[in-house]
Amino acid sequence: MTVTGGGADFLQLSPAAAPVRGLTGWLADAIRTAIIDGRLQAGAPLPATRLLAGDLGVSRGVIVEAYQRLADEGLVSARPGDGTRVLGVSRPAPGRWPAEVRPEPALPESAGQPGPALLPHRWRARAEIDLSPGVPDLSGFPRTAWLRAERLVLEQASVADLGYGDPRGSQWLRTELAGWLARTRGLRADPDDIIVVTGVAQALALLAQVLRDLGEIAVEDPGSRGAREELAYWGLRPVPVPVDEHGLRVDALGGLRAVLLTPAHQFPTGVVLAPRRRRDLLDWAAGANALIIEDDYDAEYRYDRAPVPALQASAPGLVAYAGSTSKTLAPGMRLGWLIPPGRLHADLVEAKHASDLGSPALPQLVLARLIASGELEQHIRLVRKRQRSRRDALLRALREYLPAARVQGIAAGLHLLITFPGRAGPDTELAEAILRAGVLVQPLSWHRQRPGIPGIVLGYAAHPPDQLREAARRIAQVLSG
Ligand SMILES: Cc1ncc(COP(=O)(O)O)c(C=O)c1O
Repeated sequence: MTVTGGGADFLQLSPAAAPVRGLTGWLADAIRTAIIDGRLQAGAPLPATRLLAGDLGVSRGVIVEAYQRLADEGLVSARPGDGTRVLGVSRPAPGRWPAEVRPEPALPESAGQPGPALLPHRWRARAEIDLSPGVPDLSGFPRTAWLRAERLVLEQASVADLGYGDPRGSQWLRTELAGWLARTRGLRADPDDIIVVTGVAQALALLAQVLRDLGEIAVEDPGSRGAREELAYWGLRPVPVPVDEHGLRVDALGGLRAVLLTPAHQFPTGVVLAPRRRRDLLDWAAGANALIIEDDYDAEYRYDRAPVPALQASAPGLVAYAGSTSKTLAPGMRLGWLIPPGRLHADLVEAKHASDLGSPALPQLVLARLIASGELEQHIRLVRKRQRSRRDALLRALREYLPAARVQGIAAGLHLLITFPGRAGPDTELAEAILRAGVLVQPLSWHRQRPGIPGIVLGYAAHPPDQLREAARRIAQVLSG
């Protein structure tokens, strides 16, 4: 494929093929696919936005936004006077991975964190307002839609559907998921690539078992404590790699051979992995024959714009992608998916089979139906709106009661991180004092392996605005006391 730099002959994009809705996503997907499969080589210019817009008969804004999405993914660059050019993508070197070579320890020993990952239950019981992060509004679970779908599934399921199934999960669900993840996260996966799991936690457990010979894995610091402990339980030592305002410090990955990260919305800092870092990460993985594990735990919730597409979309051979319904439906559903690079697939299916012979059949079929009917999308749209207004309410209350606090991260997800410039003292003590005032928050240091500035993580999704306001008022009282 040659790129002419002209308009609609570019990639044989046909105005007739353009969908009526979702034009931006359609165009970005078409260009991304061409970059990944090599039709668009590094350095190739993309057509001028005005020209392509004219040829496709769409507004120039559509083209500008599609190019911007690709720039956010680190796939193209835009320099004044030089137009938009393809940056190319990293590819795994064939056949060299996983190697027997053990990585050298690249980073100092972790400072560690004593104590359990979750607050003891007695803490929870004592909290009037529980702002633990990662919990959606469970009172909003779509009970009616689930019940309707489950009834239909039970009426229509075959006898075989109720037997020991494929350890990868229901074929119907995997087909629906492939379409859903392509639409919402730009993923390129065949239904046969997908393994249905019981959540990101099981995806990590299976990966840790398969990667055990690596001995170590890089994790974000700060980063999800639960995820880190899951990996450690299964025998992989989590090596802390710093996170700054651009996301994971890729230059600190050293000689490690696998990394777990949350690129779309870093937990808990809330930053997005910057385009330059995305590129550096993929280059690192291709050069080091390393594996990237993408924890896409809450990417459905971006409130200011469309979320940046998954890393896996740019480099399926380098990235194992994991997601779940824990934030969109409920953590108790224990329904998730893992899409690994092809070379790990058979080992992971074997590990899944050895673990539990496959995930429960009926919930898989119900989820497939909810995706197929559009009800899952409808539910997420509703919840997104509600959560956005809760986030706004918390921000307003923080501005009013805690004007000196610094709110970190993008408008996304189910939680906020706040830090207090100039304030000394351990955030664990602060969290305990806040709990005595009836509000449960998580200290940032729980999610760290190495020392850093104090902060508190506030989950806002499960509470109406008046409770969030009350929580902010009590936190401010503790801080001033
Ligand atoms: C960053 C992160 N990753 C993974 C998980 C676990 O997700 P799942 O319920 O899909 O196992 C959580 C849970 O809150 C999380 O916050």
